[in-house]
Amino acid sequence: MVTSKMTKLSFIIMSLISIIASLKAHELGELKRSSMTLYFQDYFGGPNATMKPVTFSADAWSFKQFGTIFCTDDLITVAMDQGSAQVGRAQGIYVTSALDGSNTHVLISIVFTNEEFGGSTLEVQGASKQFEKVREVAVVGGTGTFRLARGYATFETVHLDMSLSYSVIEGNFTVWHY
Ligand SMILES: *[C@@H]1O[C@H](CO)[C@@H](O)[C@H](O)[C@H]1NC(C)=O
Ligand SMILES: *[C@@H]1O[C@H](CO)[C@@H](O)[C@H](O)[C@H]1NC(C)=O
Repeated sequence: MVTSKMTKLSFIIMSLISIIASLKAHELGELKRSSMTLYFQDYFGGPNATMKPVTFSADAWSFKQFGTIFCTDDLITVAMDQGSAQVGRAQGIYVTSALDGSNTHVLISIVFTNEEFGGSTLEVQGASKQFEKVREVAVVGGTGTFRLARGYATFETVHLDMSLSYSVIEGNFTVWHY
């Protein structure tokens, strides 16, 4: 009967798909969950700035000015103290992407240099409500230890010193990876 043949065929196809899927999963290993708290040491002005506007459309740049692009290379540490152990660098760009200046588009790589994850990266991308206390941005990928990473990060400015143009941003990362 045609229907029983179809059923048999679809059963074989389904079996093949699950065999291929399990082979693939085996190749990649177990899906793991990692979470970590990192601190970005951010100098947004002064001679040793680690965050600089690179293009802007008004006479003076500001975080609120739509279209302003910032380039960043912040030191990342394990604790709030900038002298604490180094984890890596946060390298990339921020673009003030909301017309009213409320959102910045984050496009940064967490470039690990420490012993545990050195040579690996995490890619952080998304709209960040930059003037809110806690901002959430997606983790969209990674390399090395963090291949095929997926997850999210929440950020909060935990220290701000306008006279030094210095802030410390706490980031909690939760990622699933192989
Ligand atoms: C900038 O960095 C140089 C070299 O590390 C250091 O000597 C200087 O004190 C720093 N300046 C400020 C304002 O932090
Ligand atoms: C990060 O996690 C700690 C511990 O759960 C929490 O106290 C802190 O508020 C979190 N910070 C952010 C920016 O999510």
